Amino acid sequence: MVFTARSAFIQLQRRAFSSTATSAYKVAVLGAAGGIGQPLSLLLKLNQKVTDLALYDLRGAPGVAADVSHVPTNSTVAGYLPDNDGLKKTLEGADVVLIPAGIPRKPGMTRDDLFNTNASIVRDLAKGAAEYAPNAFMLIIANPVNSTVPIVSEVYKSKGVYNPKRLFGVTTLDVLRASRFISQVQGTNPVEEPVPVVGGHSGVTIVPLLSQSKHASIEGETRDALVNRIQFGGDEVVKAKDGAGSATLSMAQAAARFTDSLLTSLEGTPVTEPTFVDSPLFKDEGIEFFASQVTLGPEGAEVIHPLGKLTPYEEGLVEAAKADLKKNIEKGIKFVAENP
Ligand code: LMR
Repeated sequence: MVFTARSAFIQLQRRAFSSTATSAYKVAVLGAAGGIGQPLSLLLKLNQKVTDLALYDLRGAPGVAADVSHVPTNSTVAGYLPDNDGLKKTLEGADVVLIPAGIPRKPGMTRDDLFNTNASIVRDLAKGAAEYAPNAFMLIIANPVNSTVPIVSEVYKSKGVYNPKRLFGVTTLDVLRASRFISQVQGTNPVEEPVPVVGGHSGVTIVPLLSQSKHASIEGETRDALVNRIQFGGDEVVKAKDGAGSATLSMAQAAARFTDSLLTSLEGTPVTEPTFVDSPLFKDEGIEFFASQVTLGPEGAEVIHPLGKLTPYEEGLVEAAKADLKKNIEKGIKFVAENP
């Protein structure tokens, strides 16, 4: 594999907490008092590259801000509510905006079942970001990511501020799960188990490329079970939480890691990892967004890499992913057209 050599992967895991800041970055979290927002805010406070942390939510953000502000790293923290221009104050000057806002799944629900509630939440926050932080890098965590990312792109297009290099769906949790789950099968250290995961962020749209891991020879039932667990890892957590939500802690870690990759790239060290972006890979098939290895740089998504050599099994997974993805993306685009 080309981009995830072992040493680079280990560095990626260690980087955030050991870095010496060389630049100043304001990072805004929209939905900071929620299940993902709180641990994410803590992890961002611990990241030495973040110098200003702005936390926004309908309720509770000032409290979360006061709490994490006591963590002794050298950054300012402010918490805002909608009144007194809170969203504007949160967003103005932001270099990076993360949106974990929205409701989580309950057992038996798919991510798509969240669409009716989360689509309008993300649309409205995107409108704010288009106005107050149009050049910020926008990282979408709110589900269904396969649809909410297109929603943001449509809002930005309608406001004339869309830069496809600056919009990302965070799929890092699929990458982390792939490393973790393959290490459990192999009895190895997950830190040393890079696995590219492409496609999207739900069910069969999550496509782990095991042939590009260190265990290309995994076949048969072991492979099928592993792929299934990676694709439906989110359901494991939803089920275990038994009505109290979905993954929050691991998702926060995933989003914090992707943020760190982006900030590292902005500082001049390009990082390559999977993320869901406006992608040329399958546009000729009407699929506007796709997750693949992306090299991040000062402009954002600077190089979108092709999928590389796939096995026939993986080609089948990609075909299945494309069918669902197309529908998910079209749903987001249609939503904004009908509900501008
Ligand atoms: C996850 O992958 O854990 C998140 O997308 C939350 C969910 O609904 O599964």
